[in-house]
Amino acid sequence: MYVCLCHAVTERKIQQAVAQGTSSFQDLQASTGVATCCGACIDFAEQAWQAALATHSPSYQLAAARLATSVI
Ligand code: FES
Repeated sequence: MYVCLCHAVTERKIQQAVAQGTSSFQDLQASTGVATCCGACIDFAEQAWQAALATHSPSYQLAAARLATSVI
């Protein structure tokens, strides 16, 4: 889904940026242009940023790995 129409930034693009090590919202803006034009997307962009951080955090990765290997 598109997050920023001005710069054609998608949630996937934000996820990829975080996976590649983008460590601040300002860096995300610099690399993608998200929320740097009209600003209408800022709230959604920040939500997508937070979701990407949560998905790529070490604790999330550990929990996902445990779920994948657990036997029910
Ligand atoms: S929609 Fe993102 S800056 Fe305009």
